[in-house]
Amino acid sequence: MPFPIDKRLAEVLWFPAPDVIPQLCAAVSAVPMDVWNSTEDLYELADIMEPYLEQHGGRKWDFIWSMERHFSEPYGPLPKAKQTFMAGIPDEFLQDAGGLPENVGSYEVGGVSDVRFVRDDTEEIEAQPYQYEAGDDMPEEYRFWLSKLFFKHGECMMPYFGEAAKGHKSMFSAIDAFSLEAAPDAESRLRQQNFTAEEYKHTFQFYKLYNEYDPEIPIQIYERERETFRAYEQTAMEKTWVDRGLYNMLADRFGVYQGFQWVQSSYAPLARVSLLVCKDERGHSNMGYLHVRDSIELWGEDARKDAQRRVDEYWYPQFMASFGADDSRNSKMWRKWGLKELTNGQMRDAFHLEMVEVLESLNLETPDKDKALARGMEMAEEVKKKMAGIAVKKSA
Ligand SMILES: [Fe+2]
Ligand SMILES: [Fe+2]
Repeated sequence: MPFPIDKRLAEVLWFPAPDVIPQLCAAVSAVPMDVWNSTEDLYELADIMEPYLEQHGGRKWDFIWSMERHFSEPYGPLPKAKQTFMAGIPDEFLQDAGGLPENVGSYEVGGVSDVRFVRDDTEEIEAQPYQYEAGDDMPEEYRFWLSKLFFKHGECMMPYFGEAAKGHKSMFSAIDAFSLEAAPDAESRLRQQNFTAEEYKHTFQFYKLYNEYDPEIPIQIYERERETFRAYEQTAMEKTWVDRGLYNMLADRFGVYQGFQWVQSSYAPLARVSLLVCKDERGHSNMGYLHVRDSIELWGEDARKDAQRRVDEYWYPQFMASFGADDSRNSKMWRKWGLKELTNGQMRDAFHLEMVEVLESLNLETPDKDKALARGMEMAEEVKKKMAGIAVKKSA
């Protein structure tokens, strides 16, 4: 039997990906088809690929990661991903995945965690995975919480589509333009451009989802997000390449964790979109990882210190708080209606354990979780005040 993935498929899928490493593509092109097909096992293939990777400046870990991200279950026929940094989707989050019997009820993050990704069975759950389609009759309370979820967590950070979009720019256009200018080499510029295209695809996917639920909603979400975005804009990013990399490494990873909550959503259209979007968001966070890793290798200790400072003072508090309070009522109601799986605290713990691995591999320290969370909550309060200020100005 040849290797389950035709090598030409890797070449065509990798090039437009946000975490493309052209050196890996060159190595895959260079290896003869019969050599590639001489094993069925990914890890053995990675050994076989070593001389080709070396010749073209690619790394073995990157090769395995890229193969697993694109071709492991549920996205392709390779076995479940083994690489750390949330390369795979936990079985608990998959509809009809079959699962791993010995692994039911727990998921190891990067091999270091014993966080139990399991729904609290003391809670009443009123809706099952994939229960509702767009046109179905839904309980009033269900509709309320589903709409609220769309407003809180949707992905619509760009102009709405259709006629109403004419004359509008993406909210990210300035940041995207900066990223292309600041990218230190051709490879990272290509990644950044691919990333922008993929985020636009997400906007389209979510626009369709909202529109099928209620045609009024996309515009309302867009307006709401513009306010949030303006408030964050004043505090968020430093205009450096390292900071841009950190942003993707954490923000898009946060997106992965949110997306995992929905691949078994009771709202079927959201479950389907989320499975696709999770794969992409893993690529975005890996792009960020590559850019931070490259920055440290390129600019040395100065870049490492800069990254550490920004993780400590801004990004870590920000994303610890982004998961929300442990006793959040929204989260409880979303769990009740099958719109979320886990508590905010469970998500935060898992994210933190993964980040310890990620940051360690970059020779960076992970801030104390509780202190970062407390600081992040303060920062969120400051943003809320700014948002209130913007609302006052608008109505004046
Ligand atoms: Fe996205
Ligand atoms: Fe993303």
